[in-house]
Parts: sequence; structure tokens; C-alpha cells
Amino acid sequence: MLQEVESFIRGCYTELGRPGDIPRRLAEIERQLLATGSYDHTFQELEHGARLAWRNSNRCIGRLFWKSLQVLDFRGLEEEDAIFEALLRHIRQATNRGKIVPTISVFSPALPGKPSIRLWNHQLLRYAGYLGSDGRVVGDRASVRLTQAAERLGWRGRGTAFDLLPLIIQVGDGPPHWFELPADAALEVPIRHPEFGWFEDLHLQWYAVPIICDMQLEIGGLAYPCAPFNGWYMETEIGARNLADAGRYDMLATVASRMGLDTGTNVSLWKDKALVELNVAVLHSFKEAGVSIVDHHTAAEQFQLFDRLETSAGRRVTGDWSWLIPPVSPATTGIWHQSYANELVKPNFLALPVPY
Ligand code: ARG
Repeated sequence: MLQEVESFIRGCYTELGRPGDIPRRLAEIERQLLATGSYDHTFQELEHGARLAWRNSNRCIGRLFWKSLQVLDFRGLEEEDAIFEALLRHIRQATNRGKIVPTISVFSPALPGKPSIRLWNHQLLRYAGYLGSDGRVVGDRASVRLTQAAERLGWRGRGTAFDLLPLIIQVGDGPPHWFELPADAALEVPIRHPEFGWFEDLHLQWYAVPIICDMQLEIGGLAYPCAPFNGWYMETEIGARNLADAGRYDMLATVASRMGLDTGTNVSLWKDKALVELNVAVLHSFKEAGVSIVDHHTAAEQFQLFDRLETSAGRRVTGDWSWLIPPVSPATTGIWHQSYANELVKPNFLALPVPY
């Protein structure tokens, strides 16, 4: 603990241009640790710590913007209703009518003897997946287990392919509480294609803001198990994975046959062609709707700028290459031709075990 505290405090105050405050702050934290077994972050430490956690996220291609992360301090909240209201505020502020603001909400840290807050959801906004007795799924296949868990708690969805899941909040070992999102909570984008008129008949859509809420934020020896955070989407996440993966919405064959491609042979490259048009449609639709999104070529250039800026600041960029390369045309980006050490540097975000 002491070691993590010290390395965080030294790094934090040095980067903030206040190295003179280090000895006093370390002595203060040491007293608090001896007296209570833990310590509190100042808002500035929390803010910079959260930004560093983003900067150190090896799988994230969007890290150029780490300094712009807005931190909402919800450490005082303990009760489910208040937590739900705070999460709604996060969704509203981060959505910002489409001009998405990278945002993190930080709730109480995990402390011995104190009930900790856990969200069962993977993201604050995510579509349900209903598994039928025939093995077919309506909605998002990745959500089947969480959907079943929500149903066991008494939730009933409408049964469409795009029902937003309720937020499931658990405090300590208490019973999980579920909260239906108000109809206007989520900005959603209907997916259309700039040239293919038939595309809108597929009735595809996606939500505007990806807000991950199943990772623990770790800063200076403290763990924040409830700390939902978001950036904006890169189009491949939706067009090449969420709507395309066989284990998700599985739309490639449908799109390819509407395009008139021969899906009976691999050599027509129908999957590849359908994939590209799906991605074109996602970019076009988000732009038309005025919702922030980045294409994978621009994101890769931004990542390489991040790499150069970090290097000139005397820091080494760590990264998980297999996640950094985009799933569409990866070799056309500079990242493909680079390598990164996949080492865990803290502060960071760490995966939490599935609670259901
Ligand atoms: N890949 C995830 C999804 O499609 C979101 C992960 C975070 N993405 C982001 N652009 N911040 O929902």
C-alpha cells in the first residue's frame, strides 16, 4: 500500500507542477493510514489519477484525449436511488446532445468493513438479449446472461432487438436493485447508408455513448469498484463488431445479400464488402445525427500522436497491440507496424469478476 501511495503521490504532484507539496502530503497520508487503515484522495488527486488510468489503458486507441476527462465526484453517495440519479446525470452530461464529453463518475472506494458499490451492467447503456427456446436470440447475444439475471430479479423487457437493460445496483451483500432507464435517458442513432436506400429497412440502431461500468479504477493503493467511464465510439466497434460478430447481431450475411453479393463462396469476399458498408453506414449515421464518432484511420493517427507526445514527455507508452489495431483494414494504420510493451502501469482500470 505505502509503496503504491508513494509512487502515485510523487508522480501526481510532479506532473501537476507542485513537487514541493509532496513531503507534506505524504506525511499527512501516512498519519491517516496509521489512524484509519486508509486515506482519502483530494479532488485533484482523484481527477489526475483517473486521467492517468485512462493514459495507462493499454487497450485504448483513444488515449490522446486523456487530459480532457471530466471527473464527477460521487464519493458521498451510499444509497441505491441516489446512485441511480447520479448515473443518469453522468449519461446526460456525457451525451451533451451528441457532442460527447469523456466523463468518469467516481463512487466510494472499497474499504474494509464498508459495503462496496457494484453495478451488474457491463455498460450503463446496453441492449438486452433474449434467448429463445430454439436457441435464437432477439437482441444482443452478449447480453443474454445479464438479461436472464435481470429477469430473475423481476425485470421484463419489451422483447425488441434494442431494449435498453435496466441498471442493476448492488450495495455490499444487499439485494441488487434494478432501475429502468427513463425513455429519454439514452441518445440513440438509427443506422442508414449514404447510398443504399434499403439499409434503413434493416432497422438497425445503436446508442451514442459507450459507458463501461464493470472495471475497477485503481489509484495510489485505493480501489474504486464503481467508476463508470466513457469516451466516444470508433465506428468499427459498432460496424465491425457489435452489429457484425456472429456472437452479437450477426448482420453480415443479411447486408451482403441485400447488396447482391454471392454469399455462397468465400472468394466473392462478401463478408469483407458487407463489413465495409456497415462501417460506412455507422459513420454516416452518427455524423448525420450530430453524434461524436471517430473513424479508425483518424483514431490510429491520433494514437500515434499520443505516442509521440508521451515519448517527448519522457514516458514510455505501454499498449496491447492486439486490441489497439482496428478490426477493419488494420495494416493500413501505422499501429500495425509498431510494437508495444503490454505492461500494467497504475493508476489503471482493472476487470472485475462478473457478480451474477
Ligand atoms: N467496444 C465497446 C462497445 O462496442 C465499447 C468500449 C469502449 N469504447 C470506447 N470508444 N470508449 O460498446
